[in-house]
Amino acid sequence: MNVFSGMYCRAVQKIIFLFQSSLVFREPELYSNLEDIETILIKNNKINPLIVVSNTVSKSKRFKSLIKALDKMKINYVVDTSVSHDPTFKVVYNLKQKYIDNMCDAFVAIGGGSVIDASKGCALLVSHLDKKIEDFRKLLSVKNEMPLFIACPTTAGTGSECTAATVITNEENNDKFALSDPKLIPHYAILDDSLLDSLPSTIISVTGVDALSHAIEAYLGIDETEFTNEKALDAIKLIKENLLDFYNDPSNDNARGNMLRASYLAGLAFTRAYVGYVHSLAHAIGGTYHKAHGYCIGILLPYVLEAYNSKIYKKLSKISDYLELVSLDKSDKEKANAVISWIKELNNKLGIPSSFDGLIKDEELNKLARHASKEANPFYPVPKLLNTKELKNILIKSNKNS
Ligand SMILES: [Fe+2]
Repeated sequence: MNVFSGMYCRAVQKIIFLFQSSLVFREPELYSNLEDIETILIKNNKINPLIVVSNTVSKSKRFKSLIKALDKMKINYVVDTSVSHDPTFKVVYNLKQKYIDNMCDAFVAIGGGSVIDASKGCALLVSHLDKKIEDFRKLLSVKNEMPLFIACPTTAGTGSECTAATVITNEENNDKFALSDPKLIPHYAILDDSLLDSLPSTIISVTGVDALSHAIEAYLGIDETEFTNEKALDAIKLIKENLLDFYNDPSNDNARGNMLRASYLAGLAFTRAYVGYVHSLAHAIGGTYHKAHGYCIGILLPYVLEAYNSKIYKKLSKISDYLELVSLDKSDKEKANAVISWIKELNNKLGIPSSFDGLIKDEELNKLARHASKEANPFYPVPKLLNTKELKNILIKSNKNS
C-alpha cells in the first residue's frame, strides 16, 4: 500500500480507537446451565421472551425440559426455529415481526453464531423501530439499548455470546453486512458445554479454527491492549490443547468445555481489538461461493500470516513462546514460522484443505479482492496494510491446486 493511503488508514484507525476507548464494553454475566434461563428471566421480571433456537437443539430433551419448566413458572414464550446458517435480512425482519406481534419482552438465543447474530439483528431493529438494517452502517447509529438478551452458544467458535458484532447477509447481493456496537453485547451468556456433545466433527473443526483466527487476529492487530492480549493468548493455548481432542471425541467433556471457554475468550479479545484480512477475505469468498465461514478462515489464515511477513515475527514469536512450540533461543523468524507450521498441521489434522483448489474463478479475483479491501481498509487495525493488489495475490496463492 502506498504511503499516503497507509497514512489515511492509520489516521482513521487511530480515531476509531480513541472513540472506542470511550465506550463501555460490558462483559456478559456468565451462567453454565441451559436451565439457568428460567432464573435469569424471573430475576429480570421478563415473562414473554422470543426464544430463537436452532432446529437441532429445539428437538433435544434438554430444550423440551426447559420449555416444561417455563410452562410451570407460567412464563409465556414464543419459539422460533427459522434461523439456519448465514441469516439474511429477510430472516431478521421476519423475527422482528414475530417479536412485535407477540409483544415479546426479551431475547433468548440458543444456537450457533447464526442464531445469536440473527437475534442480535432483530434486537437492534426492535429497539429502533423506525430503522432498517442498512441504516446501521453509519457510525454512532445504534442509539438505544436492546431488550434483555440471553445468549447460549451451541458451537465453540464465533464468540457471538460476548461480542459486539453481528453479521447478516443481504440476500440481494450476497453481501455480508457486518455491524459492531457495544450495545449488541448480550447481557447474559450461558456456557453449557453439554449442549455441544453431539456436534458433528466438521462443525467442530471449522468453528474451532474460526475461534483461533479471532484470537490471532486480535493479538496481531495494533489495537491490542493488555486485556485483549491476555484473553487472546489464553484462547490460543486452550485451542492448542483441546481442539483436536474435541474434534476426535465430542463426548470428551473436558476438551469440549475448554473449547467453549476458548471461543468466549477469543470473542472478548476480537470484539475490542478487531479482526484483520483473514476475515475480510473470508467474508468475500464465503458470500460469493456459499462456503462456511470457518472453512474459508482455516484455509486463509496461514496465507495471510505469510503475507504479513516480518511485520509479525515479534508477535508470533511471543505466541510460540506461550505455546512452547520451539526452544526459546530460536530467532523471532524461526518462532514465527513454527506458529504458521503449527496452524497448517492443525488444519491438516482437522480435515481443512490447504487451498481453495481452484474454487475461485479468475474473473472473480479482482472483485473479491476489492470487496475484502473495502471491508478492511481503512478500518481494521491490521499489523501490515495491504492494498487490493496484495489481497488479490493472497487469493491467487490460496486458490492454487493442492
Ligand atoms: Fe470469524
